[in-house]
Amino acid sequence: MVAPLRVGLAGLGTVGSAVAAQLARAHDELAVRAGRPIELVAYASKDPPRDSSLDLSKARKAADPISLARDPGIDVFVELMGGEGDPAKSSVEAALGMGRPVVTANKALLAKHGVALARLAEKNNAALYFEAAVAGGIPIVKTLREGLGGSRIGRVYGILNGTCNYILTRMLEERLSFADCLKEAQRLGYAEANPTFDIGGFDTAHKLAILASLAFGSEVDAEAVHVEGIESISLADLDAADELGYRVKLLGVAQRTDTGIEQRVHPTMVRKGSVIAGVNGVTNAVALDADTMELTLIGPGAGGAATASSVVADLIDLAAERRMPAFGRAASGMSKPQRAAMQRHEGGYYIRLSAVDRPGTVAAIATRLAEQNISLESIVQRHRVTHGGEDPSTSAGPVPVILITYATTEAAVRKALASVEADGAIAEPPQLIRIEKHR
Ligand code: HSE
Repeated sequence: MVAPLRVGLAGLGTVGSAVAAQLARAHDELAVRAGRPIELVAYASKDPPRDSSLDLSKARKAADPISLARDPGIDVFVELMGGEGDPAKSSVEAALGMGRPVVTANKALLAKHGVALARLAEKNNAALYFEAAVAGGIPIVKTLREGLGGSRIGRVYGILNGTCNYILTRMLEERLSFADCLKEAQRLGYAEANPTFDIGGFDTAHKLAILASLAFGSEVDAEAVHVEGIESISLADLDAADELGYRVKLLGVAQRTDTGIEQRVHPTMVRKGSVIAGVNGVTNAVALDADTMELTLIGPGAGGAATASSVVADLIDLAAERRMPAFGRAASGMSKPQRAAMQRHEGGYYIRLSAVDRPGTVAAIATRLAEQNISLESIVQRHRVTHGGEDPSTSAGPVPVILITYATTEAAVRKALASVEADGAIAEPPQLIRIEKHR
């Protein structure tokens, strides 16, 4: 009988509970796949398991995550507590420091300390695997780290946060408020403990920084990500986008440019009818442009069972003694990231303005854009905004004006809009959504 891989699991929330359940349910099949059984022998959790039906009677409860990480009775430490700080960081360091492999789903930890942890893992000859950290159930880490080892990747982009995609989809389809959709996402277990991480774009940024490192072989550089969330997206934007032939998605995009790696997270207009535009609800998508091929992976990006599937896949690799460096190359072989400035970003823009209702306003706005060499693809002026039962032909409210530009630069758009604001031509700050060229 081959010795089992003995698992110590820290964190029994949505994902941790699902991992424990999957190890028990698929015990025999996993043993066949991995060549030996994979057994949960110990756990640490400050709260009772999220799944109250879990049978943990065969596993020991450790006093805390660090003693679990150091427990001589385990072969691998699985960290599913989350958070960039302690106890996740110190317990992962404790395990790696003694040469013990670690499996984690912790994108915040990897985004902030990924390079240091990869170095520590390498120094102690310990594996550090994190398939579940990016896009939940989609095996994108393995795809980049191993499957695409022979390709040069130019851009990686996608929908990396299920909560945001769920909210944007539900708002448009059900005409629900942002707040109601967020509550539902939390109830369904998609959102982070602190949902600001989701809706503010930070969760996407963490995942993007990890993807960029895997794709470009550079050190994880989360500080370089330009981050905007979806808080300012209104139903008016989703409707206007729909009318103009677009959908709004929160995208993470990392691409090679002439000046370095550009990393950005922001609401993005994608063409209706495209693959990305059709990715709805909690589903994630990761698209890659490589010199050899274009590839899109679509699947569940959050939720217990799907994310647990990625954790268990890492455990199978460890049980079967399949070893890879954390980021697919020696930590010392990762290049120093060269950042591209967001101001140099090039692309089309959707701009929604609340124009002050007086003759010449729209012409003045067009002039300011022209001064920055910004060319307009379309311009839509709507009826005045009225309040209550006012007569729209006489009441003076702001007039919604929607502009779509041809490709220009971030700097040009920012300058033009600053002039429009200084002219007093608009009643509210402008709404700006970038348009991404995509498949
Ligand atoms: N809060 C995350 C999401 C969970 O909504 O995608 C998976 O990382």
